[in-house]
Amino acid sequence: MDLMELQKLVVGLDEHITLLDGRRTKYINFDNASSTPTLLPVQEKINEFCKWYSNIHRGTGFKSQLSSWIFEEARNIIAQFVGADASSAVIFCKNTTEAINKLALRFQCPIINAMGKDADKPVILTSIMEHHSNELPWRKVGKVVHVDIKSDGTVNSSDLYKKLEMYEGKICLVAISGASNVTGYINPIHEYAAKVHDAGAQIAVDAAQLVPHRPINIKPKGDPQHIDYLAFSAHKMYAPYGIGVLVTDRSAFEHGAPDYVGGGTVDIVDLESAYWKDLPEREEAGTPDIVGVVALAKAARLLEEVDFNNIIEHESDLTSHALKKLSTMPQVIIYGDKSPENARTRLGVICFNVKGSDHALVAAILAYEGGIGVRNGCFCAHPYVKRLLGVTPEQAKEVEKCILARDRSRIPGAIRMSFGLYNTKEEIDQFCKVLSMIITKTYKGKYLIDKERGEYYPEGFRTDFSKFFKF
Ligand SMILES: Cc1ncc(COP(=O)(O)O)c(C=O)c1O
Repeated sequence: MDLMELQKLVVGLDEHITLLDGRRTKYINFDNASSTPTLLPVQEKINEFCKWYSNIHRGTGFKSQLSSWIFEEARNIIAQFVGADASSAVIFCKNTTEAINKLALRFQCPIINAMGKDADKPVILTSIMEHHSNELPWRKVGKVVHVDIKSDGTVNSSDLYKKLEMYEGKICLVAISGASNVTGYINPIHEYAAKVHDAGAQIAVDAAQLVPHRPINIKPKGDPQHIDYLAFSAHKMYAPYGIGVLVTDRSAFEHGAPDYVGGGTVDIVDLESAYWKDLPEREEAGTPDIVGVVALAKAARLLEEVDFNNIIEHESDLTSHALKKLSTMPQVIIYGDKSPENARTRLGVICFNVKGSDHALVAAILAYEGGIGVRNGCFCAHPYVKRLLGVTPEQAKEVEKCILARDRSRIPGAIRMSFGLYNTKEEIDQFCKVLSMIITKTYKGKYLIDKERGEYYPEGFRTDFSKFFKF
């Protein structure tokens, strides 16, 4: 399978929707950083598996044995996909958020926190760039110290190195994103890993954005550049069937009880005691999402098969094309790197605003008059977006008051377009046409805001969704 072949096998690419003026058009999905569509070979693999489906582990029936074998094969495929060896375990969970929370709960475990350090106040170093899923879980663990960003929105590596020195001996973990879901910046995770290990700490990488766009190799444990923990979601890599992954250093899960306990996690139970299973089973309580795991493994195989170099080339081309076109529109303010020539060094995630237009209004017009799906707002990265936008603490406080009063109409934010391996330059051109219409205010609808939701909708227009899907 090559990339051109796979690009035609994205499920839903030919679906048409109705625009405000009644025209039917193909939907354009520029919201891949949120979630990617499924791939036909992934869907087909699920159908093939469903014929053999049975619950896994401890079943002697043929289907159960086969399903158990498939489940463990999938685990091996994922281990290979990220270069994990026997010192790491692949734990399946729901998504990146759950994977990071699971890890954070381990670091709340006193035995881990007491790794010869200040047991009362462990420090977690993270950055201003983080998605909330790689920020909020750490607040439960200890003192979260933020590595600053530079004026261009990249992580300030010198600040990281300074803080590694400043908190040496107290840091239990450095938690950092592989790539930003706002600006598409890619962090030098292996360079950071070497410095983190030098300082006697470990590194966890939130790879939710990185994994569908770049090959990842966590490297062997003895390598200074080794990534100790890695989290990602299948729904961002063309397998949206409810599965996520935590690749973990085994040592973190050697002590204490699992976070969730129950069936599948124990070897022996009597009324007073329980003996936990080994990793990964002890951390996968209850019946896992076996279908999701099959989908994930197939998606990983496909990404490898089409070769990440081809994906990088195609997506960089799209990014460069979009940046060039946007640069001809003086009303467009781009956050992060604007240079088309740097497209290879970052992901195809472009965040922008249109001067004088609310981000929510721009997103609504793109949807209702262009049939284009983007995302707007703060993308679950409030501190980062506020910094990029230059929102002052006073302005932030004002907005906070409004939100608490259920008025979301003044939330600061931006519009994000994000590309997948199947998007085209023609789609970008179409996007820019609609954007020009927004800039010149020649769009057709009269838009009203629903203050509580902070969303715009065209007056007198309602979509009957039951025409598109019925149970
Ligand atoms: C960088 C980053 N981290 C974490 C997440 C959370 O992923 P999930 O919703 O799959 O848990 C996202 C989702 O957008 C993300 O972009």
